[in-house]
Amino acid sequence: MGGVSPRLEDLPLRDDLRGMTPYGAPQAPLPVALNVNENTHPVPQDVADDILDAVALALREVNRYPDREFTELREGFAAYLGHGLTRDQIWAANGSNEVLQHVLQAFGGPGRTAFGFAPTYSMYPLLTRATGAEWIAGGRGVDYTIRADDAAAQVADAAPDVVFLCSPNNPTGTPLGLDVIEAVYDAAPGVVVVDEAYFEFAPRDERSALTMLPGRERLVVSRTMSKAFAFAGARVGYLAADPALIDALRLVRLPYHLSALTQAAASAALRHAPTMLRMVDEIVGQRDRISATVEALGYTPHESWTNFVLFGGVDNPSSTWQALYDRGVLIRDVGIPHHLRVTAGTEDETTAFLDALASIGSDA
Ligand SMILES: Cc1ncc(COP(=O)(O)O)c(C=O)c1O
Repeated sequence: MGGVSPRLEDLPLRDDLRGMTPYGAPQAPLPVALNVNENTHPVPQDVADDILDAVALALREVNRYPDREFTELREGFAAYLGHGLTRDQIWAANGSNEVLQHVLQAFGGPGRTAFGFAPTYSMYPLLTRATGAEWIAGGRGVDYTIRADDAAAQVADAAPDVVFLCSPNNPTGTPLGLDVIEAVYDAAPGVVVVDEAYFEFAPRDERSALTMLPGRERLVVSRTMSKAFAFAGARVGYLAADPALIDALRLVRLPYHLSALTQAAASAALRHAPTMLRMVDEIVGQRDRISATVEALGYTPHESWTNFVLFGGVDNPSSTWQALYDRGVLIRDVGIPHHLRVTAGTEDETTAFLDALASIGSDA
């Protein structure tokens, strides 16, 4: 046929997708990549060996479709989460992004709305719009915190079908009190998702929103293996909710959405949860080192209960970002004026970032 290839605008694309830009954090091959809040510590060798054995076993039956109900994996997540949860309260998918997409496919969609307190995780609006729903951005108070009464008033006013509460919040690192979750739940007519992607990096004695599940059939608590579990490349996210809500997600998932290899790898990794989570304390130490050092360099770090730090006081974020890039360090310009976000890496990676930042000076 030949000829000129069509442009996106020329295709019969859904009207509501026109003008949207895809998620696009740069994937540049730099020596120090601290831009997408990964766990930069590899999976320990003994666990990797066990995962390989489990995957090899699963391969023997890969001619068959996998367990559609990923029963063993759901039991593994229930045991890991505790709080008396059982497998009928657990759902999982290829990353918590897909878990959130399932929630939106079931409870969002055309003619409906989803709500979050901006700035928050950039995929919420994208996932919302991709299901045909409308995104409503609420606001935060001083230093990105949310007050219970203010949050409840905003949610009551918007009356959204789905609310996303990111706890702690990406990209700011801000903790979220259970009092806010309770007030938002009481004010919301629809489903309330508490996204605890970074929960394992919060102080040990903090209560999870999982403790609030009993009696709240519209509450969802999502987690991921991508961060604390160092499993981003395997793509495994999960949530806990009332069994009836889990039934709603079965209506929208693709049959056999979790491959036999993913199920085997994730179940094996979960059996080694303490080893997989071994690096969390080390990462929290590097995070706090970043906060203290960028502050000493004259920037303003925000309180973080995650594996990253958002810091302000950057005169020109794009030139500082570029200067770090030129020194082999990739961090994230999340679009907040005068701010940049950096993920806590290994001790050496963190040192490389801090040394590079110090060498740039504030007039980059
Ligand atoms: C708040 C939050 N939720 C969910 C995700 C998605 O994680 P994944 O799809 O890798 O499980 C991320 C990833 O950065 C995140 O920051």
